[in-house]
Amino acid sequence: MIGIGSALPEHIVSNKDFEAYLDTTDAWIQRRTGIRERRHLNGSIELTDLALEACRNALEDAGRDGADIDHVIVATFTPDRLMPGLAPKLAKLLGTNGAGAIDVNAACAGFLYGLDQSAALIESGRVDLALVVGAEALSRVTDPSDRGTAILFADGAAAVVVEAGEFDHGCSPFVLASDGEHGDLLYAEREERLLRMEGQEVYRHAVERMVEATREALRRADMTVDDVDVLIVHQANQRIIDAAARRLGVPEEKVFANVATIANTSSASVPLALHHAELAGALKPGDTVALAAFGGGFVWGAGILRWKERVHAGA
Ligand SMILES: CC(C)(COP(=O)(O)OP(=O)(O)OC[C@H]1O[C@@H](n2cnc3c(N)ncnc32)[C@H](O)[C@@H]1OP(=O)(O)O)[C@@H](O)C(=O)NCCC(=O)NCCS
Repeated sequence: MIGIGSALPEHIVSNKDFEAYLDTTDAWIQRRTGIRERRHLNGSIELTDLALEACRNALEDAGRDGADIDHVIVATFTPDRLMPGLAPKLAKLLGTNGAGAIDVNAACAGFLYGLDQSAALIESGRVDLALVVGAEALSRVTDPSDRGTAILFADGAAAVVVEAGEFDHGCSPFVLASDGEHGDLLYAEREERLLRMEGQEVYRHAVERMVEATREALRRADMTVDDVDVLIVHQANQRIIDAAARRLGVPEEKVFANVATIANTSSASVPLALHHAELAGALKPGDTVALAAFGGGFVWGAGILRWKERVHAGA
């Protein structure tokens, strides 16, 4: 991973804003979720615009331009149009030479699935440079009258540039899994197009699955929890993040979270947290990062990567 960028809508929705029309309080939301505010697209721009800004920032960070990109993977389940997805238009606007372009939907675990796919394409030699984007406008599929979900979900985009090279570690095989038995605990129906969730059940599964997957990812990478410099888990709720870190035995100072100001942006959540961690000085080149995510399906995953590891000379 050689570059990262992100973009957020300008419009800020604070907890206080919900007090005007929902039976909730700023204090409840902060205590039960850790969230203070979130961003919503308010009609002035589309998700494509937001994703484009994130991609341009990531390319600039990587010192590359659009023509270098072979493949674009966008993780989203809230694209601007049902079809085509976001990826082909982004590939065009970025100036790629007709790069492969695909949207993937793995709910809140989408970025991890996309990143693992990009690594597999690169390792097999089919692709040299891939752009992996998480872009989501959950405000479009949130019921404003449902206090159990309206306060949680938000909009944002982030992108990473992934390149081939000879690394000591790079990106080891991710642990990806699913359990379709629980598809009714977090879903959006075709007709209604609104997220419905059994919050407590989702909470319980999210913690257990992300912990299990992270342990397995460490095992596959031949590492232990002591090797982890930074832990970033899906930014759903501060209590979920804390519980997962506690069970894994990762100390607080190694856990990065931005859920307080970003809330749950589904597939954009992990790359947004990665970028914000870097901007905050909490993530440096060479650091070992453990990532984990969980979402509707259920689907989940975890992976270990070395942050912006340098390519060996001559590779
Ligand atoms: C949604 C969530 C914040 C609710 O917190 P919780 O501590 O589990 O609360 P409960 O669901 O047990 O609800 C407790 C009470 O608070 C109420 N409540 C729910 N949302 C509320 C809100 N925004 N303000 C005030 N009260 C609220 C419930 O209606 C319930 O009331 P009742 O006891 O009268 O029935 C929490 O379950 C959660 O974060 N779940 C996981 C969500 C998630 O991460 N989803 C995406 C994963 S990809």
